[in-house]
Parts: sequence; structure tokens; C-alpha cells
Amino acid sequence: MNAPASILDAIPRRLHLQPDHPLLITRKLIESRFPGYKTHNNLFPIVSTAQNFDALGFPADHVGRNRTDTYYINKETVLRTHTSAHQADTFRANESEGYLIAADVYRRDAVDRSHYPVFHQMEGARTWDRAQAAKEGKSLADIIWADVEKIPKHDVVVEDPNPTIHPERNPLQATHSADEVEAIAAHLKRSLEDMVITIFNAAKSATDAQNTSAEPLKIRWVEAYFPFTSPSWELEVWWQGEWLEVLGSGIVSQPILNNASVPDRVGWAFGLGLERIAMLLYSIPDIRLFWSKDSRFLSQFSEQGPIKTFVPFSKFPACFKDVSFWLQARKSPAGGAGATAAPAPSNQPPAPTSTSPGSASSAIVPPAAPAPAVPTFHENDVMEIAREVGGDLIEDVRLVDEFEHPKTGRKSLCYRINYRSLERTLTNEETNELHEKLRAVLVERLGVELR
Ligand code: PHE
Repeated sequence: MNAPASILDAIPRRLHLQPDHPLLITRKLIESRFPGYKTHNNLFPIVSTAQNFDALGFPADHVGRNRTDTYYINKETVLRTHTSAHQADTFRANESEGYLIAADVYRRDAVDRSHYPVFHQMEGARTWDRAQAAKEGKSLADIIWADVEKIPKHDVVVEDPNPTIHPERNPLQATHSADEVEAIAAHLKRSLEDMVITIFNAAKSATDAQNTSAEPLKIRWVEAYFPFTSPSWELEVWWQGEWLEVLGSGIVSQPILNNASVPDRVGWAFGLGLERIAMLLYSIPDIRLFWSKDSRFLSQFSEQGPIKTFVPFSKFPACFKDVSFWLQARKSPAGGAGATAAPAPSNQPPAPTSTSPGSASSAIVPPAAPAPAVPTFHENDVMEIAREVGGDLIEDVRLVDEFEHPKTGRKSLCYRINYRSLERTLTNEETNELHEKLRAVLVERLGVELR
């Protein structure tokens, strides 16, 4: 179990169901572009590792499974890290050709203005029945192409330079024909373009009112990789001078459908982060605001009428404080690979904690087993301690310095904490107190030595 109370407390908030909340409005805007798709907005966030990872074909050593990245309730139970955790079950229920899922998801991650350990995703899928097509004496591809024609047309410039199928980078699945995949890919792209263009046109009309140098909308498809789709793509939007990734998508892995007892179905799926979209739609500058109960935030959003840009209720002063510490040197019995692991970027497989002694306990709690057990350091532990101690009073945590002692080989890290409330000016006393507490908890949990 590595989920702190502050995270469990978020479970009942269900912001995507809160009337007039920007996440609810964004969800409904997306739903409005998928008529006939069955919506699921009440799925419980605690799922099995089978649902979250195994059913989706995540390899056993995938970094997403790490305790440093994922909240475990016990060895086989997690707080879902994505809405895809419900794909297999939703396909198995086989209630509709298309579905949409909106839900809170949980990930241990950085602390800054666009990352929060709880956020919301929306997932969608559309499948067709091969056996049904055969029964009707029609080709599945023809049926799908006819459905493509029903999707509203748009005139936005779309860059899509890659072939649908690339043998190495974006392979066709063994049980699919190229004809089928061309048709499914066209349906996927047209459906998702329609949704994204609707959202960004709404965002543009909200921001163009203040912005005279408004650029026309542009979108592009980029090849991607997910364990549970192939071929796979991301959709990017040209927004305020940069390409921005807005969603992941692809042709559903056939084994998922086969294992869900719907082997005759084939189709596509996508997933996106609701906060990211809502932040653009409303120009919301900080992800913590979604959790605010302050009426100066909440009163600015309404399900009625057009999207209106969020007006920040003045920016309160920032207060930066640094904390530096030595990581404990590892005393390896074999005299082998020296010091404690450095903070690994989350896309690199860190040393598997599952093979170390005492692994049933959290990586942030030194294992109860006697030496030579070594607490493994991961940057996400610092991030989480900051959120636990500072709550929403911390805006950002950043590694600002890293140093290895030339003689002892010990490593020292310096993190800069930005204390800033969204609602008021913090007093010196208050930030000092929080910072002292943070320093103490770092020592207690991570076994580091303050400098
Ligand atoms: N689950 C993926 C994520 O969290 C998004 C995704 C969903 C990609 C469905 C493809 C298909 O990043």
C-alpha cells in the first residue's frame, strides 16, 4: 500500500460529475460529438493489476507497473492509472458499438502547474462485428467506409504524412486485413478530428476575443506506440505557437477483444486527459485550481452559454525554498554497484523493487528487513511528500542541483519548492513551518541526510 490519505480523499470528489465544473463541461462537449456512444461515468477507481495492465498486454517489466509510478492498494490492486483499465470489461459487456468512459485516474508524478497525482481521462472506442457483416453478405471495410461518410466534415488543415501501416513502426496485426485497417483508421481519424476541432474552435472563440493575432487551427497525426493498440497514433494541435499532444489512439489489439469473448469485433480506441483540454479551453493556468472549492473559481463556469476564458483572481506571491540532502551511500555486501539509485526519469526502467528484500513494503518506507536492505530513492517520492505536507500550497517542485562527492561518491540533490497559494498570500511563518515539516518527513521516509 503506497497511497496516502490525501490521495484516497480525492476518490469521492468525482469532479467530472460536479455540475458546472469545467471538467464536467469539457466531458459533455466531447460526448456531444459521439452521438449514440454509450457513456460510463461511474466506474470505481480501484481495479486489479489484471485490469490495469495484464489485460492490455503490458509486459511484466513495464515501468508503469512500478510502485514509484503507480498507487498500489495491495500487490494485485491499484488505483487505475488510466481509463483503459476498463477496456476489456466494457468490450466484454458488449452493450454498444461505441462507448465513452470518463473517470479519475491516479499517477505518482512531478509536482508542477500541469501535473497532479489525480487527474481525469476520457476514453472512447468504436467496434464493428465481422460475423454480422458476413451474415449480411457485405464486406466489413465497406460497412465501415459507409459509417465514415456519416461523420461531419471539416475544413481544417490536417498533416498526416505517414502510411496507415508501417511494418516496423506501426504494424498491421496478424488477424487484420489492410483493407479493414484502412477503413477503421479513417473512421478513427475523422471521428477524433471532428471532436478535437470542435473543442479547439470553442477555445479559439474564447481566447481570440483577447488575442488579435489569432492563427488558424492546424492539426497533425503522429505515429505512436501503446501496448494495447496497433497501428497507433497521437493527434497534435498547433496551439499558441507549439504542437501540443492531445490524445493517444489506435486499432484495438485483437487479443483484448478475443479475451473479452468478442473475437468477431474489430475497432479503434482513444484516450485523452480532460484537465489538459479544459486548461486550454478556459486558459486555466494551474491544475490545482480544478480541486478548488473557492467560489471565485467555481462561479466562473456554466454549462449554459459559450466557453468564457477564466479570469484569475490575482496572482499571489511565490515563496521559493530549497532543500538539499545527501542520499545514503549504499553498502553493498558484494561491494558492487555503489550508491543509491539516482532519480530515474519516468520513462526509464528503474531497478525493480519487486526483486529486493522487503519489497512488500513501500519504496518510500525503508524495508523492515535488516541490512543490507537499502531504501531506493525515486524522485516521485520527493514529489509525493511535498504534496502530502504542502497540499495545494505547493505550486512546483524542481531538481535544481545534483552533485557527487569526488571522494566519498555520495550524491547530493537540491530541490526547489515553490510555495504559493491560489487563494491568498501565505505568511512567512506558514511557509517556514511547512518547509521544516517537509525537511523532517524527507529524512524520516527516505533516510536522506540534510545538508
Ligand atoms: N491509455 C492511454 C494513456 O493513458 C491512452 C490511450 C487510450 C491510447 C486508448 C490508445 C487507446 O496514455
